[in-house]
Amino acid sequence: MTSALSLSTDDRPHQGLPEEVRSRLQERFQLVVPAAAGSSQRSTSSTDKTDPGERPKPAPAIVSLTQVEKIYPNGSAALRDATLTVNQGDFLFVTGPSGSGKSTLLKLLYGHERPTAGHVLVDNEPIAQLQGNRLAMMRRRIGIVFQDYKLIPRRTVAENVAFVLWAQGFTRKEIHRRLWPTLKMVGLQAKAQCFPDELSGGEQQRVSIARAVVNTPPLLLADEPTGNLDSDNSLQVIKILKKLNSIGITVIVTTHDEHLVRLSNHPVVQIKNGRIQSLWR
Ligand SMILES: Nc1ncnc2c1ncn2[C@@H]1O[C@H](COP(=O)(O)OP(=O)(O)OP(=O)(O)O)[C@@H](O)[C@H]1O
Ligand SMILES: [Mg+2]
Repeated sequence: MTSALSLSTDDRPHQGLPEEVRSRLQERFQLVVPAAAGSSQRSTSSTDKTDPGERPKPAPAIVSLTQVEKIYPNGSAALRDATLTVNQGDFLFVTGPSGSGKSTLLKLLYGHERPTAGHVLVDNEPIAQLQGNRLAMMRRRIGIVFQDYKLIPRRTVAENVAFVLWAQGFTRKEIHRRLWPTLKMVGLQAKAQCFPDELSGGEQQRVSIARAVVNTPPLLLADEPTGNLDSDNSLQVIKILKKLNSIGITVIVTTHDEHLVRLSNHPVVQIKNGRIQSLWR
């Protein structure tokens, strides 16, 4: 499928991201380019990033759901028999009607909810069984972006992003070293001293992406990140997510926006009534 997004000149791999982001990812995962191929039946791995003729090496799974069921205490069945593997370096869209279970899927992945049956592994850890410090440490390895941004209103853009690093005990020097390249990557250097209410919706969403990735997590989850944005801003957000994916960050994005999905050549999972219905590229 031809993709307007993939043809964009701004999508050159490794463009605009801090050097240390790349090197840390490479150190941690020995990743130079997004992992590819060798997937299991429902794996989202793609083969289009592998040199022709080269035997593709299976990328390790970063997310694995096995026969997952989530029934909320009020009886709402949000997910049923969900089995899915997402490999390191993948970019996956999750679509489906309102109430189908998209947000629930992401909540299980960052340990906000626990499955009522089945297994959820994130980076080989059973996240639903982690508690206290182990859960907190695992969450540092997962960047999260929400539809409604969730920025701290009385803090500037720079402070909103730096806060994550400060809370994780990074030194002032390291915060400075990471902050500016990350703001540059999302095109917000000039707005660093603005407050959230001085920004457009698209700019606020880009701050929330910067905040989610400034500590270089290997996994980024975005729940309807374009839900409040017009089509230009939506494309800009997806471009940034693709850029992050190009340096090895695994990205899982939920969206209602079929148009956005069609413009991209990434794998898609569709959820209907809590069941994973189909997967296509
Ligand atoms: N905390 C909760 N308690 C009870 N039921 C819930 C809870 N959260 C979600 N649900 C129910 O679980 C189902 C799936 O909800 P979920 O939020 O995952 O859907 P979604 O696909 O993200 O929808 P949307 O596109 O509207 O965001 C819905 O029927 C919803 O009412
Ligand atoms: Mg949702």
